[in-house]
Amino acid sequence: MKILNTVDDIREEIKAARKVNKSVGLIPTMGFLHEGHLSLIKNARKENDIVVVSIFVNPTQFGPNEDLESYPRDLDRDRKLVEEAECDLLFVPEVDEMYPSGYKTYVEVEGNITKRLCGESRKGHFKGVTSVVSKLFNIVSPDRAYFGQKDAQQVAVIEQMVRDLNFDIEIIPCPIVREEDGLALSSRNIYLKPMEREDATILSKSLFKAKEMIENGEKDAKIIKDFVTYNIMTVEYAKIDYVEVVSARTLEEIRTIEGDVLIAVAVKIGEPRLIDNIRMEV
Ligand code: PAJ
Repeated sequence: MKILNTVDDIREEIKAARKVNKSVGLIPTMGFLHEGHLSLIKNARKENDIVVVSIFVNPTQFGPNEDLESYPRDLDRDRKLVEEAECDLLFVPEVDEMYPSGYKTYVEVEGNITKRLCGESRKGHFKGVTSVVSKLFNIVSPDRAYFGQKDAQQVAVIEQMVRDLNFDIEIIPCPIVREEDGLALSSRNIYLKPMEREDATILSKSLFKAKEMIENGEKDAKIIKDFVTYNIMTVEYAKIDYVEVVSARTLEEIRTIEGDVLIAVAVKIGEPRLIDNIRMEV
């Protein structure tokens, strides 16, 4: 596995691969990797000749009061994990490489798709995500890019951007990887204190029960939303940011549960803010 720190260096590698008609899969990450990230790499490994992983804690997607400084980092460990997962090229740029002085250009997807859900409490977050992902797409020019369904809104926003800006890249959404007790893996889970860790399972438990209710015929989005809300409120350390029942593609609120439906939650459990969701075709 080669580690590249500059745009020029990774471009040279990609160019060489392209010359011999190799396909390229990209997995953008912010590092501190876990099985969720590794599942994306495994999927990419199956479908591409060259697998590229990027690790970049992107400052433009963090708000002023968010955890940019304290975001967990462990490059040595990450390097070993991606190597074991048979990644070919690991791209680890410094902030100056991605945003040199005088940097001025951003990519923004407009409308409810970025304004609602996480967009409401994390102003500017998706603008940072779409900007850095566009840059990575331009730098690596992959055939396919892999994203976790854990960040369902991120997937919807990136799919919208790819359609709108005609990126010739296939977006591959990958299923959420969970702990045995249901908690969705997240780099931020390490912030959970022991009692909070127990409470954190309420997110997936409520979502799984809601799924069951829908499978048993419940069609009223408000009943599902209220059920999930009250269920989460039963644990001590939970503070709800949002519980939403929306169309998975547009993220517009729905009244009747039908089609491609997303039930998404964001909840502060103590300090860390956790997100989880369930997507179902009804
Ligand atoms: P990060 O949070 O590091 O996540 C990188 C990728 O791993 C994302 O596509 C995310 O959805 C996926 N992922 C995280 N936890 C997962 C889980 N439990 N199961 C499956 N996939 C999971 O998301 C970002 O970084 C950034 O916003 C990024 C796209 C890299 C842009 O900076």
